[in-house]
Amino acid sequence: MNLNLRGTVVRGAGLGRELGFPTANLELRPCGALSDAPCGVFRVEVSGSRVRGMRLGVCNVGVRPTVESAGRKIVEVHLLDFDGDLYDSELSVRFLGRIRDERRFKDLSALKAQIAKDVEGARRTI
Ligand SMILES: Cc1cc2nc3c(=O)[nH]c(=O)nc-3n(C[C@H](O)[C@H](O)[C@H](O)COP(=O)(O)O)c2cc1C
Repeated sequence: MNLNLRGTVVRGAGLGRELGFPTANLELRPCGALSDAPCGVFRVEVSGSRVRGMRLGVCNVGVRPTVESAGRKIVEVHLLDFDGDLYDSELSVRFLGRIRDERRFKDLSALKAQIAKDVEGARRTI
């Protein structure tokens, strides 16, 4: 895939941290990049002003149908093996491959189980 997105980390609902998979919600630049971004779950490589080197991540581009009935499109990234404050910092996200479509899960624990699989899949792929 040849796609790179960049933007500033803004505050989300904070539910990701509760789920066990905290995400950095991105406000993209240029803002037109959001409408062009393909929806789905992706394996990505992330760099940024507060991220040392390159980190593997999983990225969701979509409307989060499990948690919002009329959500607007967002881009959020979970960085693997990373625990730090990224709010207001800059991130660059390079898309490496598509994992799956975004789906509506019956509850949060089903969503959590799927994200855990997404993470394991992203780790295994070289
Ligand atoms: C790898 C990954 C995959 C995701 N897949 C879905 C999905 O299929 N369906 C969905 O409704 N939300 C999906 N989400 C979004 C979660 O619902 C979201 O991260 C959670 O609601 C936390 O949002 P918040 O950080 O804005 O609070 C995914 C998030 C990640 C990081």
